[in-house]
Amino acid sequence: MPNFNITVINGDGIGPEIVPQAVNVLNVIGEKFGHTFNFTNVLMGGCAIDEFGEPLPQSTIDACLSSDSVLLGSIGGPKWESLPGNERPEVGLLGLRSAMKLYANIRPAMLFQPLKSACPLREDIAERGIDMVFARELTGGIYFGERGRNGDVAFDTEKYSVSEVRRIAKVAFETAMVRRKKVTSIDKANVLDSSRLWREVTSEVAKDYPQVELEHMLVDNAAMQLVKDPSQFDVILANNIFGDILSDEAAMITGSIGMLASASLGDTKVGLYEPIHGSAPDIAGKNLANPIATILSAAMMLKYSFGLTAESAAIENAVNAVLESGARTADIKDESTTEVVGTVEMGELIIAELRK
Ligand code: IPM
Ligand code: MN
Repeated sequence: MPNFNITVINGDGIGPEIVPQAVNVLNVIGEKFGHTFNFTNVLMGGCAIDEFGEPLPQSTIDACLSSDSVLLGSIGGPKWESLPGNERPEVGLLGLRSAMKLYANIRPAMLFQPLKSACPLREDIAERGIDMVFARELTGGIYFGERGRNGDVAFDTEKYSVSEVRRIAKVAFETAMVRRKKVTSIDKANVLDSSRLWREVTSEVAKDYPQVELEHMLVDNAAMQLVKDPSQFDVILANNIFGDILSDEAAMITGSIGMLASASLGDTKVGLYEPIHGSAPDIAGKNLANPIATILSAAMMLKYSFGLTAESAAIENAVNAVLESGARTADIKDESTTEVVGTVEMGELIIAELRK
């Protein structure tokens, strides 16, 4: 019987409410399919600052590196906002991505059929469908470049090497191969040297994937195209900062940021799985948060890290069935909602569906 060791980081804000729901779901999957999932909880982010005086203790890094995968809720909040930049909860997350060498952030953004009316775009635009996935570079660029402050002057550096661009471009093309075979590569090549390198390398990688169409798009235009006609996008390849910004925009047009999952991967099977939304301190502790993005992140873990595709699909189907039934958390409430439920109740409904 396969055994999987999962490191769990609840994090801050709504994290401690949503992650246990995903853990419950994984336990039911274990029972149903005959796997054992072992969970080890560790601290990262604001809660780690409170407990250990630092956002990413070495013991947390060690636990993550020695496990089969990591499930994360969300980090940060107003409590830690006044800390100096290099001591904030976010430093913990960036440090963990870097320590685990997770250079590829996979973020699917799609309009869930039962939530069609959640799309804030004009109906004829929504009708064409939204189904894209981001391949965001995660351990380079301006997030990790040299930065500093000298009195009235501050700077951050955007820097990419050929090998950094090549490996994330490959992830984008591989992803496109099992989808609609189109990669839109985002850059600002009319201004930035790092973007000109990005364009050069992605064009080079494209030669290995003749079935995939590669399109280069300037980031400002991409921001516009995402609301003008999102149906044109299949795989969006972007650097760290452009991918961060555009994936939030893409999430918003699906109207369901509480639904979207993500996987951060490197060259090994060990990944970091987390919802794309934040820690939502305003609703924390009130049983209001939507646990679905975290539950779907756990489903991504099953598929990408453990190769358990049937198990992963079982979770996705259960989520879909619950949404079809009309049950919604407050964030995704619409005209078809028959029942507004809390975090715990949503988790229980999905589990009941899995047990059927
Ligand atoms: C994300 C977040 C992080 C990022 C923050 C919390 C550092 O916005 O995962 O998108 O910018 O990468
Ligand atoms: Mn972000």
